[in-house]
Amino acid sequence: MKLTKEEYKKMKDRAILNFGKADYRLFFSPSRINIIGEHIDYNGGNVLPCAIEIGTYALVKPAVRDVIRLRSYNAQYYKEVLIGSEFNPNNKWINYTLGMINAISESGYEVGGLEGIIYGNIPTGAGLSSSASLEILIGKIINDLYNNSEISMKDLAVLGMKTENDFIGLNSGIMDQFAIAMGSSGSAILLKTGTLDYEYVDADLGDSVLVILNTNKGRRLVDSKYNERRAECESALVKLKPKFEIENLCDLTEENLEDALSVLDLENERRRVRHAVTENARVQKAIEAIKNSNMEALGNLLNESHYSLKYDYEVTGDHLDAITAAARKAGAFGARMTGAGFGGCGIALVKKDELDEFKKTAGRLYKEETGLEVDFYETVIGSGPCELEVERWEY
Ligand code: GLA
Repeated sequence: MKLTKEEYKKMKDRAILNFGKADYRLFFSPSRINIIGEHIDYNGGNVLPCAIEIGTYALVKPAVRDVIRLRSYNAQYYKEVLIGSEFNPNNKWINYTLGMINAISESGYEVGGLEGIIYGNIPTGAGLSSSASLEILIGKIINDLYNNSEISMKDLAVLGMKTENDFIGLNSGIMDQFAIAMGSSGSAILLKTGTLDYEYVDADLGDSVLVILNTNKGRRLVDSKYNERRAECESALVKLKPKFEIENLCDLTEENLEDALSVLDLENERRRVRHAVTENARVQKAIEAIKNSNMEALGNLLNESHYSLKYDYEVTGDHLDAITAAARKAGAFGARMTGAGFGGCGIALVKKDELDEFKKTAGRLYKEETGLEVDFYETVIGSGPCELEVERWEY
């Protein structure tokens, strides 16, 4: 879903109307799916996300003073904020912009004002990380406009996470920002969140494709439940550390898992730890399955991941359960929720030549169960943020 000439023209007209004629620059930042390794990026686990070609665009120019004036093309929403100002819930999505610019400034880099139009083709509230897409987009713009691109993409990812944690108040891990900032066309990223070491994994799925399944059920309670899960993991870790030589829950292995569980007195903590350890092991198995072109094995791992997130981590919810069940019945090798959960999107591994039939059947089954339609998007694994040439559209 690349920007079309028509969409560009609309952004440009809107920019001129709001901010006058100028040499606007066009930037893009992708969104992400996570193939596997869910809710373990804050437990030192390995995760396997990838950037996808759906994302956020900005047509911007520097502003003279330290002011951010942006209009969302989608929401027809205009906001003006001063760099350095505090989080304000009324500022809605501009908070991600402000938080990111503040974080860049606090780490000693140059920042400056921005004026322009933001346009995204990420389905809203779908859990494909529109917030991280916006943070990294703004990071890329500030980097290119005010810092000669000196800030590394890895550092921008860290600053994006800092924005979520310290400015927005979501204690997220770094997976989303990292996947978006470091995205590489055709590759998933094996990110070791304990060290931030990473490697690209060729995500060639042969005759199969990962399909994004949008439940069209907005995510509910995601921030509070997310922070609650993280706190449960931290409390389990405090109890386990004196008995095991570990820094993070994912330093435990499937071999010492039972011993670890016997130390924990609370059932919910035992479940969270079981999820973290088994999910971490599944990531490695999934990489093997991809390397061996074994789609049955990969599909089974996606299913196991979903069940672990449903029963042990308790973050799926009726709609994600229904859509993944429908996908399995419709012939997918496997399916799971992706992202934080509590609504949003799932992914399914499907044979390319069965795609049309799959969509029909999965869509029908899901509608029978929930009354809602499914939106399907084929995953195209794209690269990280970039500036786009606009000359070809300017005649
Ligand atoms: C959200 C967070 C990520 C990660 C996922 C769950 O997307 O932003 O850091 O924890 O949930 O895997």
